Amino acid sequence: MNPKWWKESVAYQIYPISFKDSNGDGIGDLRGIISKLDYLQDLGVDVIWVCPIYKSPNHDNGYDISDYCDIMKEFGTMADFDVMLREMHARGMKLMMDLVLNHTSHQHPWFIESRSSKDNPKRDYYIWRKGKNGGPPNNWESYFSGSVWELDPQTDEYYLHLYSKYQPDLNWENQVVIDKLHEMVEWWLKKGVDGFRFDAIAHIIKAEGYPDAANPGGTATVRAYEMFSNLEDVHTMLQNLHDKVLYFYDIMTVGETSGLGPEQALDYVGDGRRELNMTFMFEHMNLDCAAPGGGKWDTVPWKLTDLKKIMSNWQTVLHNRGWNANYLCNHDQPRSVSRFGNDLFYRVPSAKMLATFIHMLEGTPYIYQGEEIGMTNVAFELIDDYRDVETLNYYEEKRNQGMPEAQIMSNIHKKSRDNARTPMQWDDSEDGGFTTGVPWIRVNSNFREINAAAAVKDPDSIYHYYKKLIQLRKKHPVIVYGEYALLLEEHEEIYAFTRTLEDQRLLIILNFYEHEPVFELPAEFAAGKQELLISNYAPSKEDDLTQLKLRPYEARVYLERQIQA
Ligand code: GLC
Ligand code: CA
Repeated sequence: MNPKWWKESVAYQIYPISFKDSNGDGIGDLRGIISKLDYLQDLGVDVIWVCPIYKSPNHDNGYDISDYCDIMKEFGTMADFDVMLREMHARGMKLMMDLVLNHTSHQHPWFIESRSSKDNPKRDYYIWRKGKNGGPPNNWESYFSGSVWELDPQTDEYYLHLYSKYQPDLNWENQVVIDKLHEMVEWWLKKGVDGFRFDAIAHIIKAEGYPDAANPGGTATVRAYEMFSNLEDVHTMLQNLHDKVLYFYDIMTVGETSGLGPEQALDYVGDGRRELNMTFMFEHMNLDCAAPGGGKWDTVPWKLTDLKKIMSNWQTVLHNRGWNANYLCNHDQPRSVSRFGNDLFYRVPSAKMLATFIHMLEGTPYIYQGEEIGMTNVAFELIDDYRDVETLNYYEEKRNQGMPEAQIMSNIHKKSRDNARTPMQWDDSEDGGFTTGVPWIRVNSNFREINAAAAVKDPDSIYHYYKKLIQLRKKHPVIVYGEYALLLEEHEEIYAFTRTLEDQRLLIILNFYEHEPVFELPAEFAAGKQELLISNYAPSKEDDLTQLKLRPYEARVYLERQIQA
């Protein structure tokens, strides 16, 4: 089973701008994070992934870096960073940095030089091309709407940006760029950070010659995902990074690699690949997209049987060969309880059920800030209340195309990244205790009911349930290393599976809906031998596992010892 500390860990993701403001300017910051480390230690998490905190003009909340070795002034100073790292370590927690190697900010000194003239020595740090037929060099569409190419009048050439035009892509065919990035990664490792999440890492290499993508609709731009995702040389680049830098440190690495299934993921995380420890899967994030791969905004209801298929595939393919990173929410996704649970009538039980699901899978579980108290999506009436560049570009584009305002807003309510970016709700005081000033984005108005202070006080809260799940992980190796097997494959409401390690077996039963289906214990289980480890409902005396009527969103985890192989 190849034990590793990062397999046994639970990770917690912080989106710093929205976590905790310490000085009343309405913007979360490092001192704010430091002030909440006791809260995180009490929750029991091991690794804290902090989204980018580098110097940045903030067109994409820090994912546009203008200096890799400095701290964003709104977030604090390098001295604050050093205190934060020390205080995390003092509490037995590790820090995972979020590194953006695919692109920089347009205000990075490299880019400022690069754009200044065609013969600048740094010209080749980025990807510059001449236009074609009076337009951009090819038809690829940016993640954030429009062409990936931006014309720079200064030299009359286009530069490539897969994300916003304020995020020019670095040229990974330039060895000087690669060496500089390696040096920088090493610099952070020497400072003592414990790992990295590599942002957009699947996209660092683009198709040779930047050819047009097939365009059946004849539109100006097309989603050309295959032209810049998971290409062979990405692996060469990661292996170099690993062999020259990462290998020498005992760290945890996770890649953001969309657009692949588990077989391809093994190329990144397979034992012996010398690349990454784990990658974030995206297949389950596309379940509610009308046309998979065709954009996130048009949604359809998702099906539990599809979720089972996807998760089971990842669980099975990676077992003993790689490692999973399991999550239902992050700073780019809607809130998990609103999307996969029921935030109206069953917020608490459904949030606990989803937590059980993620923590009982094989892989490292990730908690996104606020998920541990069941924070929900937000639905601002006015586009002016939104801040996210992707959301604003989408709004603009659809308005221009004539989509009705109500339709646009309804899509935004479901899928905007700002759903996850409203401030963390700490208590029931003004603005949820996030700031004493004016928050950079409005706080979700349900903060008086949903907040950390209330959750910590209530022993039945989602927060305490998470705490218990984390403690169970520390106690039972079967939760970390057990092999997954799906039960009731075709059942449309119950997701049940087992995890087996040597003579121990977990039985996980999850009701994903408000209906009350009956779970029947399969014949291979001997009735009466299962010990209930955790449940989101109090067990009752009449409980009979052979015929168990599940309550809305009920979750149960049983442990069976000394099973016969
Ligand atoms: C990743 C990040 C996202 C960011 C993008 C560009 O997808 O998670 O927040 O906008 O990369 O850096
Ligand atoms: Ca602040």
